[in-house]
Amino acid sequence: MSQVSSVSFDATSRTFLLTTPATSYALRIGADDVPHHLHWGGPLTLNQAATLPVYDGVISSFASTAGEELGVEGGPRFGVPSLLVRYADGSRGVEWVHEGHEIDGGRLRVYLRDRHYPLACTLHYTVHPDSDVIERSLTLRHSGPDGGDGGEGGAAIEILRCDAAAWCVPATSGVRLSHTVGQWSGETQLRRTEAPYAETVFTSRRGVSGHFGNPWLMVDAGDADESHGDVWSMVLAWSGSWRITAQRDHTGGPFTVSGGAGHEGLTWRLRPGEQHRTPVFAGQFSTGGFGGTSRGWHAYVAGHVLPRPDEPRPVVYNSWEATGWDVTPHGQRALAERAAGLGVELFVVDDGWFGARTSDRAGLGDWDPNPERFPDGLGPLVKEIRALGMRFGLWVEPEMTNADSDLYRAHPDWVLHMPHRRRTELRHQLVLDFSRPDVVEWAFGWLDRLVAAHAVDSLKWDMNRAFTEAGRPSSPDAERLWTDHTRGVYAVIDRLRAAHPGLRVEGCAGGGGRADLGMLARTDQTWISDNTDATDRIAIQHGYSQIYPARTMSAWATDSPNPYTGRTTPLRHRFHIAMAGALGIGGDLSRWSDAELSEARGLVAQYKEIRPVVQFGEQYRLDDAVQYLTDDRVVVIAWGRDRDLRLAGLAPAARYTDEATGAEHHGAALLAHGLRLRLPKEDAPSTVVRLRRL
Ligand code: GLA
Repeated sequence: MSQVSSVSFDATSRTFLLTTPATSYALRIGADDVPHHLHWGGPLTLNQAATLPVYDGVISSFASTAGEELGVEGGPRFGVPSLLVRYADGSRGVEWVHEGHEIDGGRLRVYLRDRHYPLACTLHYTVHPDSDVIERSLTLRHSGPDGGDGGEGGAAIEILRCDAAAWCVPATSGVRLSHTVGQWSGETQLRRTEAPYAETVFTSRRGVSGHFGNPWLMVDAGDADESHGDVWSMVLAWSGSWRITAQRDHTGGPFTVSGGAGHEGLTWRLRPGEQHRTPVFAGQFSTGGFGGTSRGWHAYVAGHVLPRPDEPRPVVYNSWEATGWDVTPHGQRALAERAAGLGVELFVVDDGWFGARTSDRAGLGDWDPNPERFPDGLGPLVKEIRALGMRFGLWVEPEMTNADSDLYRAHPDWVLHMPHRRRTELRHQLVLDFSRPDVVEWAFGWLDRLVAAHAVDSLKWDMNRAFTEAGRPSSPDAERLWTDHTRGVYAVIDRLRAAHPGLRVEGCAGGGGRADLGMLARTDQTWISDNTDATDRIAIQHGYSQIYPARTMSAWATDSPNPYTGRTTPLRHRFHIAMAGALGIGGDLSRWSDAELSEARGLVAQYKEIRPVVQFGEQYRLDDAVQYLTDDRVVVIAWGRDRDLRLAGLAPAARYTDEATGAEHHGAALLAHGLRLRLPKEDAPSTVVRLRRL
């Protein structure tokens, strides 16, 4: 069923219905003025939604409570609170008064305020015509008079928690959660687990969204698979610390998932007249299993998140694994010549080109080319790279400084610190406080000059350590920096892109430590892991693909044995696995033999040929394979073993021809019986199959 996305309202029952192409979502303002959740699932009409009962768990000291659009404290509520506030007189909680609503195309705003205290709140909902993803967020406003500090109206309100939204999933017999866990070099490992009857917290306390979990959750009844089953999923568009709390109710109430920016224990003050808008916590209901859920998110990211979704992502060469910090014009030139010969389109000089940056001990913050290595600046190298027909990119880590840097010597107060605490160095570096306007101004200034000076085509924006001692001395409200830092980073990237419309940006944080929708709203790609071992990558890419589309997934073919894992794998396998995303090359090309270079050249050419399908097609995760599908083309990247691989999403009545062999297949046969795969007889065998619809 395909409906037109819309928002409608039944005034008698005070019911709102959000309609997306295949789903419906309903809420009601109750007699108590509380916004109650009614429905999130298959299509309903407004009349049908208006007849739905609100969840009314038994109100007693012993009951559990759930089922509101935004859990708060106050009265007999014992469920997970999305909003926790403390007023100047020590009182807590919220008693809602509904103040009306606005519907504006696909947008709904529900206006609420506290019955007594100067706290106003708007619930925002947005639906798009082409997506089942519903965007939700919240605005909090201190409605008291500006300036004064006496009385309830004039005093700041302490915010102990302010999530973007609470999502309610219907109570079912089973509740299974899908999410990712990880670590540096082993990000986005998919896990599925039965939800306990408890509150389960997924979080990052690091100042970045993190390697250890990615800010999303999928919920199903334990019966969904890649192609079938009801799945409710929620994704937070935020790149700093975050928290998603899932609550399974043992009394039959809905399963609640509340999420937002910041982690537990952080408090900050909303000042009179001030307004705070949360990031978006988006949700999607799908009947198409995990695969359908992922394709829904991929299309949403392409249609509503990425700044330039249609750009074919270039084939990148990056020097990091080849040279480490040993960046010299001579070495880079030699790599660039070989990279150009392979068909590389964008050459990125990684860490080690600036300041005293000959190791990780010094130089971060001093963003002029290293004077010994580049006595004539970067200009000559950039010119040579361009003369070879490639675009030019640079690695930067703007949020960081080494204690051994001119920047730190000049501005020791610019780093996150607390007066009576040690300054913890991780990777010998300290975090610059991007919640300070002067720091943000400085960062934009040098980045703007750097990009302009060399017409830099692409930046790799890295962030290599977590926050510690996250204070700002003499600030009465220092904990705001946890969110304000992230907003500062967003502001610099947004301004930079606006000033240099051709600039592209790859997000990175010690590998995949900041892979999220917040960064993807202002970057083109994500460096998802420092681990480039093709075998390990399969699982990392599988986890990343749950939400994020292939065009955003930077993936390099590197050396064998792999420098991180020591594993030996055939060149084509390393390429094939990297060709499942936005292909790059990261090996030390100076050591590749002529035979390897020639094979690599062929694989890059093959990638360019399949690129429109991989980057812009729909992705199906198959058994030890990924398939990409456009209207008339199919690309399958498969590994593992010989078998008949059942394809997905094809037209049963259509015929498809294998572009390499000319063999013809019926869609119905490929769906039901599969494509006969014969892999090369080698360790870690893999293949790419290209089919065209006749
Ligand atoms: C991080 C990145 C790497 C590389 C190094 C440079 O670890 O993830 O890709 O850029 O920093 O120091």
